[in-house]
Amino acid sequence: MEIDYNELAKKYDLTRKENINIINRFLESLSYFEGTNVLDFGCGTGNFTCALKRITNANVYGVEPADEMRQRAIDKSADVVFKKGNHEKIPFRDNFFDFIYMTDVIHHIPDIGIMFKELNRVLKQGGSLCIVTESHKQIESRFWVRYFPTTIEVEKERYPDVPEIIESAINNGFVFSKTETTDENHKHSISQNFYMLVENRGYSMFHLISNDDYECGLVDLKNDYNKQVEIEYNHGETFVWLKKPFKG
Ligand SMILES: C[S@@+](CC[C@H](N)C(=O)[O-])C[C@H]1O[C@@H](n2cnc3c(N)ncnc32)[C@H](O)[C@@H]1O
Repeated sequence: MEIDYNELAKKYDLTRKENINIINRFLESLSYFEGTNVLDFGCGTGNFTCALKRITNANVYGVEPADEMRQRAIDKSADVVFKKGNHEKIPFRDNFFDFIYMTDVIHHIPDIGIMFKELNRVLKQGGSLCIVTESHKQIESRFWVRYFPTTIEVEKERYPDVPEIIESAINNGFVFSKTETTDENHKHSISQNFYMLVENRGYSMFHLISNDDYECGLVDLKNDYNKQVEIEYNHGETFVWLKKPFKG
């Protein structure tokens, strides 16, 4: 089943916003934002794009294929340039960006080799690319898999695992810099925001499991949410850092 982000756009911002910890990691790893060109690839409704613009003096751009998502981004900030594009066509000239990042996007890309080639074209030599995603191990450690176990296989199908990402990037002109993970122990009860997110099928994986699996999981989740049951887990994200090398 195809995920229709024009449809999801209606509810996307009810449950999703930028994660300041992710932005802080970008700021920690790169010291050169002033006056540079930064691209948020697959920027959705522009939550990360607009936050980065507020925090830095960079020229921030967003590329997003879904019209409804992109329009919401355009409505948020006149200081960011949002354009239509996708993994096959990024509407900028060669060697334009100093830094490109993508959050929660790579699992939607049908051919990551084509994407890396196109990202390589628009990135300057010496420029950095950061992919924020989840490894297969991290997918297995999400706290909600106890309610929705069938999401594990569905997610592993569409998320390329970290070695596959690195290999494809290298095959398309990048050099590998480092990976970072944000795994840490968590202990908390289910928040109202998370419950709403699931109830609204705010993650695309809830559109990919069967209705029965979804409804069953929702009943158990609601039960634990109402009882404010404490849940322990260890889960985070992976940052894959790559560089476009200088020509020798
Ligand atoms: C989960 S959303 C993440 C949006 C945003 N990066 C964020 O973190 O809020 C995934 C986004 O990837 C976009 N997307 C899907 N296919 C794409 C493609 N082929 N090229 C670029 N972006 C794509 C979707 O339209 C959607 O906005």
